[in-house]
Amino acid sequence: MNILAVESSCDETAVAIVRDGRQVLTDCIASQVELHKVYGGVVPEIASRKHVEAIYGLADQALAETGLTRADIDAVAVTYAPGLIGAVLVGVNFAKAAAMALDVPLIPVHHIRGHIAANYLAFPELKPPFLCLVVSGGHTMIVEVADYTKMRILGTTLDDAAGECFDKVGRVLGMPYPGGAAMDRAAQSGDDTRYPMPRSKPGANPYDMSFSGLKTAALNTIHHAQQVGEELDIPSVAASFSAAVSDTLVPRVVRALEETGHKKLAVAGGVAANSRIRGDILKAAEKLGVQVYLPPLKLCGDNAAMIGAQGYYEYLAGNTAGMELNAYATKSILGETI
Ligand code: KG4
Ligand code: ZN
Repeated sequence: MNILAVESSCDETAVAIVRDGRQVLTDCIASQVELHKVYGGVVPEIASRKHVEAIYGLADQALAETGLTRADIDAVAVTYAPGLIGAVLVGVNFAKAAAMALDVPLIPVHHIRGHIAANYLAFPELKPPFLCLVVSGGHTMIVEVADYTKMRILGTTLDDAAGECFDKVGRVLGMPYPGGAAMDRAAQSGDDTRYPMPRSKPGANPYDMSFSGLKTAALNTIHHAQQVGEELDIPSVAASFSAAVSDTLVPRVVRALEETGHKKLAVAGGVAANSRIRGDILKAAEKLGVQVYLPPLKLCGDNAAMIGAQGYYEYLAGNTAGMELNAYATKSILGETI
């Protein structure tokens, strides 16, 4: 089954063709990052406009690259939530038009389910059940993937997402948007003990986490140095902050693995590219005898191939939509409107 997959929830317009949920025939991405950089973050109106400009050309490019024709497309999958509403709407409207014109099923896919499914593309042998740490720009949660479309949220951030904090601290340190990757690079040459940063203690739900205190502490460290005219050791701020993020995530994942007994752990989302988190997860999992699935960096960030992968399993579960499909800025990974 060839699925034409569409992703436009933030600042990447992406169209992919994925066969049977596992084989990426092509994965075309038009990134808007350079456009938004001058503003230090994504400008929603610009994002929507650029999606409109790029999406038709990308779909044509996807067909051309695979040598397929429109008749070879068996279904259209699209990110319908969550994201910048104007941006998600562009993809949803394009996908509806494409599904109608091709007379094939339309499959709505939750963006975070897509991130999890990136692991199916990277690891053909991976099948649920498994535990997944989702760390993206807008989401941070520990999810039990009981089946391809059946999930349980064990814990989630109570305030900011990890990626959001990386971006904010990176921005104040003068790094270009999005700051996460630049923070990671800077951290390589830093001392992770130079600037003490807080680690949030487990609360009522031991799997929940908090990053806003850590973000504030990092920003205070930077501002304090500026106020007293002290030279800031930027690599060490980045390293100390990255270590604190990892120390917030990893012990909760370890506890979840121990308490659920899962022997497979997948990691998903843009922040899954972070080298400190990847290293710490690998070390912790090795001690527990747990198999870790860390997608290659290209599949950690936003792409349409992951939407095609999850779309296949949503289709098999009967989760298709009609022309009434709407886009949502927020929606739980379980499908509930928030
Ligand atoms: O999953 P994603 O591409 O988009 C969302 O669905 O949010 O995640 C983007 C986030 C951004 O906050 C970006 O700074 C962060 O992932 N990111 C990183 C790294 N690479 C990307 N954060 C830390 N270290 C990285 N190497
Ligand atoms: Zn994403």
